[in-house]
Amino acid sequence: MAQLRAFESARIAGRDVPEIVCFEKQEDWGGQWNYSWRTGQDGNGESVHSSMYRNLWSNGPKEALEFAEYTFDEHFGRPISSYPPRAVLWDYISGRLENSDVKKQVRFSTAVRWVEYNEPTETFSVTVEDLVTHTTETSEFDHVIVGSGHFSFPNVPDFAGIETFPGSLKHAHDFRGAEALADRDVLLIGASYSAEDIGVQAYKMGARSVTLSYRTQPMGFDWPEGIDEVPLIHHFDGSTAHFSDGTSRDFDAVVLCTGYLHHYPFLPSDLALASPNNVYPDALYRGVVSEANSKLYYLGAQDQWFTFNMFDAQAWYVRDLILGDAVLPAPELQRRHINAWLTRFGELNGAADEIQFQADYIRDLIDLTDYPMFDLDEVVRIFLEWKHDKQENILGYRDEVYASVMTGTMAVVHHTPWLAELDDSLERYLSDPQPDDIAGLVAETDAVTRA
Ligand SMILES: Cc1cc2nc3c(=O)[nH]c(=O)nc-3n(C[C@H](O)[C@H](O)[C@H](O)COP(=O)(O)OP(=O)(O)OC[C@H]3O[C@@H](n4cnc5c(N)ncnc54)[C@H](O)[C@@H]3O)c2cc1C
Ligand SMILES: NC(=O)c1ccc[n+]([C@@H]2O[C@H](COP(=O)([O-])OP(=O)(O)OC[C@H]3O[C@@H](n4cnc5c(N)ncnc54)[C@H](OP(=O)(O)O)[C@@H]3O)[C@@H](O)[C@H]2O)c1
Repeated sequence: MAQLRAFESARIAGRDVPEIVCFEKQEDWGGQWNYSWRTGQDGNGESVHSSMYRNLWSNGPKEALEFAEYTFDEHFGRPISSYPPRAVLWDYISGRLENSDVKKQVRFSTAVRWVEYNEPTETFSVTVEDLVTHTTETSEFDHVIVGSGHFSFPNVPDFAGIETFPGSLKHAHDFRGAEALADRDVLLIGASYSAEDIGVQAYKMGARSVTLSYRTQPMGFDWPEGIDEVPLIHHFDGSTAHFSDGTSRDFDAVVLCTGYLHHYPFLPSDLALASPNNVYPDALYRGVVSEANSKLYYLGAQDQWFTFNMFDAQAWYVRDLILGDAVLPAPELQRRHINAWLTRFGELNGAADEIQFQADYIRDLIDLTDYPMFDLDEVVRIFLEWKHDKQENILGYRDEVYASVMTGTMAVVHHTPWLAELDDSLERYLSDPQPDDIAGLVAETDAVTRA
């Protein structure tokens, strides 16, 4: 979507833009934000892409992801809170493109099956399958831009005895909601965003206990009573999990929050990016141009502190390369540039360093394009405040508000505290409920239950 917008903005500015075809295997756009209740395979037998769940709200402040050339003010026409639910963010990213014709460039329900580079013609043959008509076709392209995401193919480690676990067992990719975890003892394996957020979702929906099992280090939040962290699983024995510190507990449900794999089944191995999930995957010049083939680009391949505005910076730069407004240096110079960033990447020490690193990376890209520069240092400050807020109150950080870096507009406090809000819909979010509405009832019930 960022790439379509980037070319569209050049077209509006009077540039000649090449023919663009975007293949999307789902029926609509939005990627992860295009929620599906399905797990496993979709209606076409394709693997379900989105890892999002019904009740997902942004886990970072919207002020950190805001587009520099399409603000939340412009989209919603009034201030909203800093941590919108999933449907609100989908509305924002989709709304940016609604008043243009770019959706016509997308062939929906069309899966890319194979991409091959032809040396003699210097083109790519792209074979796709129309999932509605069940026909395959191959076309030639001068450039290929991979925007297929990397939080879709679950990383599923094995644990001794896990096959004997009799309760509910799934990877976070297949988690769709925490209601069924009420009154259950829940084990989450992993110590990153999925574990943290599914953990607090389970708590919110009334889990009896939530245990978070870490491999490297605990998240270390000031967890409420009912959530705690333990070291890694040693083995399972029926419904009992034994941990590496010698302790054990019984569980009704296990969610593997063990991350995702970079996986590009439509690319030959020499073109497919192979990387762990980190902020500077090797072999991508300026984080986007494949070293294996300079006409192949990746968007959003990094682990993401910044998201939507980083994708824009990348898309604007890729557009300029394709339009010839930016020039690629020789391969040795590209490698030298990558190495310089890899050296700095290797010296990063913790989250604050990574956030600053990603801000500098984006600044570097925007400097090369006409994408509007924004105050990246202020976004870094917001991220650090966000981290502080989480440390202070992991259940309440989503009630905090920040000012937009793009417009200065102060976000408004949402009508219902996140912990009490049980309706995650766009309609509810944008409504103006009376004080005796759902939240009051939930707060009362909650107080009685906990008493
Ligand atoms: C559970 C979860 C929660 C997240 N929450 C947040 C958040 O709160 N805030 C935030 O800023 N970011 C969040 N993210 C990060 C998220 O990765 C980005 O916001 C964004 O969606 C990434 O965009 P993308 O276009 O790179 O990839 P995706 O959103 O994954 O989109 C890739 C698209 O490619 C399509 N595709 C894949 N393979 C093929 C194929 N072979 N043929 C055709 N089409 C194909 C898919 O159907 C999909 O539409 C979250 C991610 C996850 C997994
Ligand atoms: N509400 C939201 O907005 C929301 C919710 C969920 C996820 N997300 C997004 O989704 C993306 C992915 O997050 P994620 O948490 O799924 O993945 P992730 O950030 O890549 O973290 C993966 C976790 O799995 C652990 N792990 C990997 N292999 C393991 C093994 N063999 N044994 C034990 N632990 C193992 C890792 O441990 P180590 O630390 O030891 O490597 C790490 O803690 C992020 O962009 C995140 O922001 C957003």
